[in-house]
Amino acid sequence: MSLSDHIKCYYVGMTTTLTTDATQTKRIALIGVSHRAIKICNSLPESLTDIWDVCALWDIDPKRFAAFETEFPDHQAKTYAGLDTLEQLLRDEKPDMAFIATRDCHHAAPAITCLEHNVDVILEKPMVTDTGQAQALLDAESKSQARIHVAFNYRYQAKNTVMKQMLDEGIIGRVTTVEMNLYLNEVHGSSFFQRWNRYRSQSGGLCIHKCGHYLDLLGWWLNQKPVEVFSYGGLDYYGPEGEMNPSKKNGRHCSTCEESNKCAYHLTRSRKDSVDNHSSSLTNVNQAKRHLNIAWYSDYQPDACIFDDDIDVEDTYSAVILYDGGTMVNFSANFSSPFEQPRISFNGTRGRLEQGYHFSPEQTYTGNSLVHYPLFEKDGARVIPVKARPGSHGGGDPSMLEDICSDDETHLCRASARDGAYAVAIGEALWRSAQNNGEKILIADLLGEWY
Ligand SMILES: NC(=O)c1ccc[n+]([C@@H]2O[C@H](COP(=O)([O-])OP(=O)(O)OC[C@H]3O[C@@H](n4cnc5c(N)ncnc54)[C@H](O)[C@@H]3O)[C@@H](O)[C@H]2O)c1
Repeated sequence: MSLSDHIKCYYVGMTTTLTTDATQTKRIALIGVSHRAIKICNSLPESLTDIWDVCALWDIDPKRFAAFETEFPDHQAKTYAGLDTLEQLLRDEKPDMAFIATRDCHHAAPAITCLEHNVDVILEKPMVTDTGQAQALLDAESKSQARIHVAFNYRYQAKNTVMKQMLDEGIIGRVTTVEMNLYLNEVHGSSFFQRWNRYRSQSGGLCIHKCGHYLDLLGWWLNQKPVEVFSYGGLDYYGPEGEMNPSKKNGRHCSTCEESNKCAYHLTRSRKDSVDNHSSSLTNVNQAKRHLNIAWYSDYQPDACIFDDDIDVEDTYSAVILYDGGTMVNFSANFSSPFEQPRISFNGTRGRLEQGYHFSPEQTYTGNSLVHYPLFEKDGARVIPVKARPGSHGGGDPSMLEDICSDDETHLCRASARDGAYAVAIGEALWRSAQNNGEKILIADLLGEWY
């Protein structure tokens, strides 16, 4: 098929379909019965509903078992509470796979235990929170018969898969530069600052926790390894100095805050939530507005004040990343934007490919359309409307689960532990460089022998 035929296919909304030949039941241990773990069990594609068998739940907080039960009243999974029960779970339940979705900082320890028991691991992103943990995990995997799959679901969003195919086909030639600008709106962006994600010790910072999705896409799209990073970063919107802070106080919670009617973020959240297109039919556990789930955790409320003074991560970044094939990337992220869009452009020796810039003639943002500008041709730009796959996270979740559970050997989208480690390393380089006035950080120095 010629390139132009291929593009015609994309025009009519054809995208790659991922097939599964998984027919055998997979016994799944949920390690960390988090909001995300529950969401994943609610996001199964039809092909996995009879195959994905949750045999065990493990968490330090028994309230999470109650949250799971509210969602799945007929579940048969055995519950294991406490850090010291994991070995017993693995011995007794003999799961085929562990799905690890604890807080980011608690991914590494249970993953290593699972690998020691030769149990395959699906690790939520980010794989871990720093490169020391990444190296420990790569060491453990190298000694195990089991494998790590990092749950980079964004690779499975159709627009991202199509972008990968087009770049691999050489549609724009050799990629010289990339501009990647991430914008998170004031509702989504601020939500990270209401939760544990706002502490470096727990999430690695949003450069690892959230930007990691895109830092992974970059290497995958380019088929290149990151070499070095220069970065600046700041806390410009949140924390006590945030311009919208109604008053300097610590320890407030949105659900009980007396100043919420003076908080621009809270007011916007209330207004925008009513039209939140992530909303679900669930009544007790709120999948869409997790900050409301204050009754479902012990000793933790996911609605802390975004202006507290113990926040220690950045909400803005501007950086340059160099890859080993010579591609230079201009990267930025902003966690309080009026809109929610990634804007990404690849410039190559034969043209340019864009995601996130296309608007319809009525000025409506067409989130899934790519735009291809060929060099040296008189035709001009071609819009490539990609049809999204169905399901949560732009179709990424069900397609990813289907792929990871399949025995199919053609893994265009699967992410390995090495991929997870590169994403963590670039994220770590971002904050380390930002804390040192833009000092150059070499990825090889962070990953040592695993670079
Ligand atoms: N791929 C995606 O699109 C996506 C989306 C959301 C979250 N995530 C990831 O999913 C994971 C869970 O995030 P969430 O926001 O749903 O979290 P959450 O706050 O709902 O749950 C965190 C869980 O970790 C448990 N936990 C706390 N301390 C622990 C410890 N010391 N040891 C073991 N477990 C402990 C808690 O009891 C809780 O069940 C994170 O890694 C996050 O980055 C991924």
